Amino acid sequence: MIFVTGGAGFIGSNFILNWLQSTDESVLNIDKLTYAGNLTNLKSIESSPQYSFAQADICDADKIKSLFKAHRPRAILHFAAESHVDRSIHGPAEFIQTNIVGTFNLLQASLEYWRGLDETEKGRFRFLHVSTDEVYGTLDSKDPAFSETTAYAPNSPYSASKAASDHLVRAYYYTYGLPVLTTNCSNNYGPMQFPEKLIPLVIHNALGGKSLPIYGDGSNVRDWLYVQDHCEAIRVVLEKGRLGETYNVGGWNEKRNIEVVDAICDFLDQVRPLPSGVKYRDQKVFVADRPGHDKRYAIDASKIEKELGWRPTESFETGLKKTIQWYLDNEEWVRGVVSGSYREWFGMNYGGRV
Ligand code: NAD
Ligand code: DAU
Repeated sequence: MIFVTGGAGFIGSNFILNWLQSTDESVLNIDKLTYAGNLTNLKSIESSPQYSFAQADICDADKIKSLFKAHRPRAILHFAAESHVDRSIHGPAEFIQTNIVGTFNLLQASLEYWRGLDETEKGRFRFLHVSTDEVYGTLDSKDPAFSETTAYAPNSPYSASKAASDHLVRAYYYTYGLPVLTTNCSNNYGPMQFPEKLIPLVIHNALGGKSLPIYGDGSNVRDWLYVQDHCEAIRVVLEKGRLGETYNVGGWNEKRNIEVVDAICDFLDQVRPLPSGVKYRDQKVFVADRPGHDKRYAIDASKIEKELGWRPTESFETGLKKTIQWYLDNEEWVRGVVSGSYREWFGMNYGGRV
């Protein structure tokens, strides 16, 4: 079996659903169930004999050790993290704890377990660390895209904590020989993303008649990748990636934030036009910028394509339409996650901004 940490979150749950559709190998989902973890995402497979769940904090060393002992995985896919940049600005402590200490703890538990395996099992074992392009910092408009050799230069507490975790993973390979792999991916979007991130937030606010907050002048650029393409890339790296290597994963899909918001508004105008005839674009509001806001991310994903044959299949237009349709079809899911604590977060992050 494999372990997936953070499997109740956005990418982790998409990954588990994809995994169960395409293999008969079992998965243990290890998740603390923070505000971002939602077991409803996995409702369709909760009674599958291939799937099990352990509610655990990756910082709890004894618990993680006992899970290794009881289940003897052949790989651990590490998604669990505090993942939202704005939250890391308001409260960095949890990011240090989960992203750095938690990753360290998983590495230690994996190393101890791996050392006790026989040679065949040792050769097969993998620790796959799911990381981000934000560790490389920011680009100007004419800079070449991030490659695997771009120097790390993280600018937010979130990206600094992910950078630290990447370094620890690397160190466990060079120092102890633990068979690790790291992926550094660009911005994901798709079904089941918590509506604190740009795309689901804009869809949710648009449908609720609320303002669509755009930080600064909306000219910051992100490289967007449909979540299922990311899941496929992780599977390919797990099966074929060279040990100790890092692989950049991206969509070849750079967009300014304002273009993304306009595209969402235009699609909603087609499929859910406002009875008043007013356009969704009229809900856009430019608000105070994010401190330390990275100007541009762009991923050079040629290494994973050349070495492992992976390329994204979804275009931004098709992926965005699927995503918006999912949110329209799953309003109950959205209602379930925008609880009291979501409203508190909203007040804290956006209250003083307009
Ligand atoms: P998410 O915030 O949606 O989910 C994180 C999950 O981790 C949640 O289920 C949460 O309950 C769990 N978790 C948090 N702290 C934990 C702890 N201490 N112990 C156990 N579980 C814990 O995040 P996501 O967007 O799905 O991102 C998953 C991973 O992918 C992260 O490592 C993130 O850095 C990386 N990543 C995300 C993106 C993106 O665009 N979302 C892009 C590149 C890389
Ligand atoms: O690049 C990969 C990263 O992408 C992941 O590692 C992170 O986990 C993930 O959250 C994401 O980080 P970003 O900060 O790029 O994503 P977010 O959706 O928060 O913001 C995308 C862009 O939109 C960014 O330039 C900030 C802007 N934005 C965001 C929000 C929430 C707005 O203009 N308004 C908003 O309300």
